Amino acid sequence: MSNTQVPTNHKRLIAWVDEIAALTKPDAVVWCDGSKAEYDGLVDLMLKDGVAKALPKRPNSILFRSDPSDVARVENRTYIASRTQEDAGPTNNWIDPDELKKTMSALYDGCMKGRTLYVIPFSMGPVGSPIAKIGIEITDSAYVVTNMHIMTRVGTEVLKVLGDDGEFVPCLHSVGKPLAEGETDNGLWPCAPLDQKYIAHFPEERLIWSYGSGYGGNALLGKKCLALRIASVQARDEGWLAEHMLILKITSPEGKAKYVAAAFPSACGKTNLAMLVPTIPGWTVETVGDDIAWMKFGDDGRLYAINPEAGFFGVAPGTSMDSNPNAMRSVEKDTIFTNVALTEDGDVWWEGMGYDAPGKLIDWKGNDWVQDKGNKAQPPAAHPNARFTARAANCPCIAPNWEDPNGVPIDAFLFGGRRPSTIPLVNQAMNWVHGVFMGSITGSEITAAALDLKVGTIRRDPFAMLPFCGYHMGDYFKHWLTLGAKADASKLPKIFFVNWFRKTEDGKWLWPGYGDNSRVLAWIFGQCDGVAGQSVETPIGIMPTIDAISRPDGVTEDDMKELLAVDVEGWKKELEDIEANHYPIFKDRLPQELRDEIAALKKRLG
Ligand code: OXD
Ligand code: MN
Repeated sequence: MSNTQVPTNHKRLIAWVDEIAALTKPDAVVWCDGSKAEYDGLVDLMLKDGVAKALPKRPNSILFRSDPSDVARVENRTYIASRTQEDAGPTNNWIDPDELKKTMSALYDGCMKGRTLYVIPFSMGPVGSPIAKIGIEITDSAYVVTNMHIMTRVGTEVLKVLGDDGEFVPCLHSVGKPLAEGETDNGLWPCAPLDQKYIAHFPEERLIWSYGSGYGGNALLGKKCLALRIASVQARDEGWLAEHMLILKITSPEGKAKYVAAAFPSACGKTNLAMLVPTIPGWTVETVGDDIAWMKFGDDGRLYAINPEAGFFGVAPGTSMDSNPNAMRSVEKDTIFTNVALTEDGDVWWEGMGYDAPGKLIDWKGNDWVQDKGNKAQPPAAHPNARFTARAANCPCIAPNWEDPNGVPIDAFLFGGRRPSTIPLVNQAMNWVHGVFMGSITGSEITAAALDLKVGTIRRDPFAMLPFCGYHMGDYFKHWLTLGAKADASKLPKIFFVNWFRKTEDGKWLWPGYGDNSRVLAWIFGQCDGVAGQSVETPIGIMPTIDAISRPDGVTEDDMKELLAVDVEGWKKELEDIEANHYPIFKDRLPQELRDEIAALKKRLG
């Protein structure tokens, strides 16, 4: 076995790497330094192996096609192996940690044969920031190493901050495909069959073990596994917040800036909102983060947020110069694409890119593909969950202070989902507890396309954290309430519920969304600034007066009335659904304060 030099004196870290190398039996061990030379070397290796394809149209960019069985996060193979099932709660998969370790150790035994074991020291958050945390990922995937270079801060600087005895989260990953003597991947994406995939979290030990998948959140362990599932447990224990939230900076025509953190379930346009181009003159929006926020109270009593990531792992299909020009510019160079289609001249293409396929393509499965617009049943050229991995630093609207180690002070929290009816365009919580109630009932409407679920019903995704909370969600609600109760209420962010997805009865969008959402952000800005006369109190919360939000072309005053109406009957049904189908899930761990919110809202509705 060949080794690069061990660049640390951290005994626990060295012992852990030795232990994992002895178990997984790689051909070589390489400690990553995070350098450009390292990145370029790995890209060359993958191009030579044939698993990566060059993209001559996009400087320093490459394309991967994953195995068709390995295309997304696998929630039914994702486990919270806390000591008791009760601690994982009713919304997580649980296996006894000892049993899971036994099963996974057997899989890990010899799983890196024929491969290189890479040790990736990474920082979630600016290196050395008081809010940042260090992880060490061991992986046998060069794809993972290059993605981690973009998504996190990797390398020697991190080991310096870690020192000889610093805390780190051990993150073990293997694609689960050992190679026999002389065998190669032959240009194919290595992974294990579905029933051998495990994305496991041991929250009390702050430990992550992932086996069998090379894709996204299953394999880039800094993201969902560390920054949300493990960090949410740390945040509960240490009194801070680890949230599935974008962070944006909005600046008024007068040059005043405010920071907004927003939680939406997956596929509700978080990246688009984070990079929004305002349609109202004089306003600017800049991006701090598009997926995750870590927040701690500062000495001044305000809540400060960092984006723990350094890149965007965004969904490509639907991204166009119309929907998100800043994302399109972010992926012009230095980007890793996964499961998009390849054009004949060496560029990428996906559905919803804003123009027709330019000639014959190779689809995400590696087959020739010619667009047939008359054939509605034609399988897509790009997988619907095809991704780009792009550097935040390459985003034209990245906020200049996005890497401030002390974070940015949050003025407002937004919750939202796809809700064709009932939920108004925007509604402000009357206070923190009411806001936590709003977060706890967040959900998105099931559409006709969803498999066997009832159309028109709501799939609840409280705080957009359902797949990402590392402990009992009832306790998670309590944690939010406790933080609020301890804080100076006048310094807490104000909480809003937004809904860009309202439809008329005949299915037409009532609100254009995208850049026009800046109009709603401007109202929110005013609410945080104490602007008088732009809001009214209603039974469901504080809402804009009818002319407080400027109307985009095509939105009539009647539309606005509908968008801002209090739908008493709809809300009564909503509460019935919450009481019958949502809150009972959490049994006696549902905080009484949230039950009280239901009772109070019912009373206000009359
Ligand atoms: C993501 C998700 O990939 O939330 O960010 O699913
Ligand atoms: Mn996400």
